[in-house]
Amino acid sequence: MSNFKTRILANQEISPGYWRMRIQAPGAVADCRAGQFLMFRVQLSLLPLLRRPFGIFRTGFQPSDVDGLPPVEYLEILYKVVGQGTAMMSELHHGDRVEILGPLGRGFDGGEPGRRKILVGGGIGLVPLYMLAEQLVDGSEVRLLMGGRTRDDIIVVTEFERLGVQTYVSTEDGSLGDRGLVTAVLQQQLDADPDAEVFACGPLPMLEAVYGICRQRQVPLQVSLEALMACGVGACLGCVVKGVGHSETSPRFLCTCKEGPVFRAEQLAW
Ligand code: FES
Repeated sequence: MSNFKTRILANQEISPGYWRMRIQAPGAVADCRAGQFLMFRVQLSLLPLLRRPFGIFRTGFQPSDVDGLPPVEYLEILYKVVGQGTAMMSELHHGDRVEILGPLGRGFDGGEPGRRKILVGGGIGLVPLYMLAEQLVDGSEVRLLMGGRTRDDIIVVTEFERLGVQTYVSTEDGSLGDRGLVTAVLQQQLDADPDAEVFACGPLPMLEAVYGICRQRQVPLQVSLEALMACGVGACLGCVVKGVGHSETSPRFLCTCKEGPVFRAEQLAW
């Protein structure tokens, strides 16, 4: 984990309200694991912008702007504009300075050999699943079930397809893919293949429904939780969730930032 000041290489709106930011990040390709996140802060801002957590979407190299210099290593985040902080982020441009702390947290493990892998993403929850898919396609059949309210919420699915992932899209209003919830697609998939295992990230109601479906069928499940985070390193306890066995007399809390954000379903008190 490191704290470093760096610069933005690109920042682009990819769907209404959804943005993709590429940040120069030496060492990212070797250091970042699927499911990890970073804390992001705009540097030199006059407004007091707190650090905010963002899942790492992908890492890579791009050619240098300057002839003869080696390729530039980067990481990418995807974000949705939901308030003042993310609105400010959307106004940043190539070359603007930012401060990053990361990579942070525990990511996905590769799951159990021999099982088909089903990734379930809800809206911006798709972000941590891309690097997981990159890792899993080498040796497993991987499917992505992507859900959103409307077609605007369905982002970067073609990039999963380029990895060789089979993709299934559903929207609540039927504007793209099947009409309905992504969890209905998950049920169909698991009815056809009860030996699969599931990796999910999205809003909590979706994760609770995914948990219920997987538990009923005794299908292994890993989830990446979204949480409000102030420090990102286990110091403030602002991100805790209840662990399995939690009770008022015997509280068991887990730090989403340090012990997660990825948990095996059986670690959590649902
Ligand atoms: Fe501070 Fe997790 S964000 S402990």
